Amino acid sequence: MHLGPSARRQVLAVIWLVILSGVLWIALGWYLDADDYTDPLRSWRHRVLVLHGVVAYVLLWIAGRLYSLHQQGNWRAQRNRASGLTLSVALVLLAGSGLTLYYPPHEDWRDAFSMLHQVLGVALVLLVPLHVWLARKDRQRRRVNQ
Ligand code: HEM
Ligand code: HEM
Repeated sequence: MHLGPSARRQVLAVIWLVILSGVLWIALGWYLDADDYTDPLRSWRHRVLVLHGVVAYVLLWIAGRLYSLHQQGNWRAQRNRASGLTLSVALVLLAGSGLTLYYPPHEDWRDAFSMLHQVLGVALVLLVPLHVWLARKDRQRRRVNQ
């Protein structure tokens, strides 16, 4: 159930890379001229999105690999449930809405799914540190009570 130091580093590095690449894509959009197709920023933005898609796959693989020990194990042990569940639901919704960006059920809905994906994505900026902080607090409390 306990994440070892290297597993913790790996999960956090990948999660922050997904968040950073998503936020960078949004930020580059503010400086992009929508009518100028020669703007080099456009191809950089595309590369950032490719990176995002690739690391998002890696994140899903890592989250799946953690599932039985970390999510299920800690859930059964009733540890850090609220933030763990919120983070897990957010990741599932991000994966689902990410998929609709590749295959929109209807072209008119793409912008709405994109907005949902971006709002959930930016929410991870708070959710991830919150989950880690609550985990540390819980660990300290247990150590004091031992
Ligand atoms: C129901 C779902 C979840 C529960 C109940 C849960 C519970 C916990 C608990 C109890 C800890 C502290 C473990 C310890 O003392 O070492 C922890 C830490 C952590 N969790 Fe989760 N978690 C859940 C989902 C997730 C997900 C989906 C991720 C990301 C993919 C994640 C990432 C982490 C990380 C990186 C830490 C390390 C924090 C640290 O040790 O400093 N968790 N979680
Ligand atoms: C489990 C986590 C995530 C998965 C599986 C995921 C997956 C995806 C996928 C598949 C795409 C479409 C890529 C393309 O069109 O080439 C995408 C786009 C995007 N993602 Fe994520 N993503 C995740 C988390 C995040 C996070 C944390 C953010 C942070 C803000 C974010 C922001 C974005 C943005 C801004 C786009 C472009 C939206 C658009 O094209 O309209 N994503 N994501």
